[in-house]
Amino acid sequence: MPNALEKKQLDIETTLKLAPVVAVVVIDDVAAAVPLAHALVAGGIRAIEVTLRTKVALDAIRAIAAEVEGAVVGSGTVLTPDDLKASERAGARFAVSPGCTPRLVEAAAASALPWLPGAATASEAMFMYEHGYRYMKFFPAVPAGGIALLRAWAAPLPGIKFCPTGGITPLSAPDFLASPNVVCVGGSWLSPANLLREGSWAKVEDLARAAAALKPE
Ligand code: 3PG
Repeated sequence: MPNALEKKQLDIETTLKLAPVVAVVVIDDVAAAVPLAHALVAGGIRAIEVTLRTKVALDAIRAIAAEVEGAVVGSGTVLTPDDLKASERAGARFAVSPGCTPRLVEAAAASALPWLPGAATASEAMFMYEHGYRYMKFFPAVPAGGIALLRAWAAPLPGIKFCPTGGITPLSAPDFLASPNVVCVGGSWLSPANLLREGSWAKVEDLARAAAALKPE
């Protein structure tokens, strides 16, 4: 029988395997949340990480969770135990952090919400591994060492799968996806601020469709 953390990790695995890309979104206007999520889902991108960087982020999560069938909405930029609690209350189905801290490890253990912690060094990945985590966000992927670092980790850290995020583009994504320790990539290129401002949902859907079709190369 899997323990509580193993169950949450299985849930994270399922979410990360929905498509090759997790959409990382920054929502300034809550009115954009539902049409944005509909467009992403229509294009084939169901895992949506709403970053807690704007005043309306939690309302956006609430709206997507309530109204967008097929979306698996999570919170991003989770920095504190309070962020984790607020995400869960808003209806997030997963939470993502840019790093990992002992306080967040403790809070995540007490929470039902599946958590994807961030790691940018072997020591951070090992710290989370010691706590039973097998899925991590590799952030900031490109500045921290990119595909070369990921490939170098594959042999000494065989039990860990990463979702690299930070600086990844549709052009570089296939290379990342081809690394054996990559489960999917994260990126904000599907929801550029100008398209959100203009309400260009058909264009977001096109970007999502192209992202959903990305293959390892
Ligand atoms: C994040 O919060 O994960 C990053 O800001 C996303 O990185 P990107 O904007 O380079 O895709």
